[in-house]
Amino acid sequence: MHPGRRAVVRSATADLHARAESEISSYAPPNTPEGYVQFLTVMHSVLTAFAEPLDRGADVVGLPGRSDDLRSALRSDLGGNQAVEPVEIHRLTNDAFALGVAYALEGSAMGAKQIRAQVAAHYVGPTRYLDLLLADRAQRWPKFVAGLDHSSLDHLDVVQVVTGANAVFNHIVASTTRSATATSAVTTNHQSRISL
Ligand code: HEM
Repeated sequence: MHPGRRAVVRSATADLHARAESEISSYAPPNTPEGYVQFLTVMHSVLTAFAEPLDRGADVVGLPGRSDDLRSALRSDLGGNQAVEPVEIHRLTNDAFALGVAYALEGSAMGAKQIRAQVAAHYVGPTRYLDLLLADRAQRWPKFVAGLDHSSLDHLDVVQVVTGANAVFNHIVASTTRSATATSAVTTNHQSRISL
C-alpha cells in the first residue's frame, strides 16, 4: 500500500487544477447563463475525449463506469444543444494513465459543490450533471482514493498517472479558452455589424 500516492498526484497536478479553475471562472463562470452553458460544453467535450480511459480507470479500482450517464446528464442540461467540437478521442491507454484520467474526473466532484452553490445562488439552468456528481461523491471518491493508494504501481507508473490527470486538465484549459474565443468572435462580428 502507498498511502501517500494520492498526495503525490494531487501536488503534481495542483498547478493545472488551479489553471483550469481560473480559466473556468474567467471564461465559463457557472454563475451566468452564458458561462454555465460554456462550462457544461467544456465538460461534455472532456468527457467525450476521455470516456474510455475514465471508465477503465474506474474499473481498475472496482467502480462502475459512468461516462455515458455523465454525458447524457450534460446533454440534457444543454437541452440537446451541445456544440459538436472536434475532439481527439483517447483510446488504448494503459491502466496508470487511465487512473490519472479518473483521478481528475472523479475528483471534479470535489469542486462540484462550490459550482452547484454558484448556480443555485443565481439559478441559471438545469443541474442534472452536477447533481449526479454530488449524489455519487460520498461513495465513489473514498473508494477511488483507496484504490489509487492500494494499486500496485511503481514509480514510472505514477508518472503516467500524473500524465493522465494533466491531460484532462490541459484539455479543459484549451477547450475553455477556445470556446471563449469563439464566443468573443461572434460577439465582435455582431458588434461590428451593429456599428456599421
Ligand atoms: C471553477 C471550477 C472548479 C472549482 C471552483 C474547483 C474547486 C475545487 C475544490 C474546492 C476542491 C477541494 C475540495 C475538498 O478538498 O473538499 C477541488 C478538488 C479537486 N478538483 Fe476541482 N474545482 C474546479 C474545477 C475542477 C475541474 C474542471 C476538475 C477536473 C476535471 C477538477 C478536479 C479536481 C480534483 C481531482 C480534486 C481533488 C484533489 C484531491 O484532493 O486529490 N476541479 N476542486
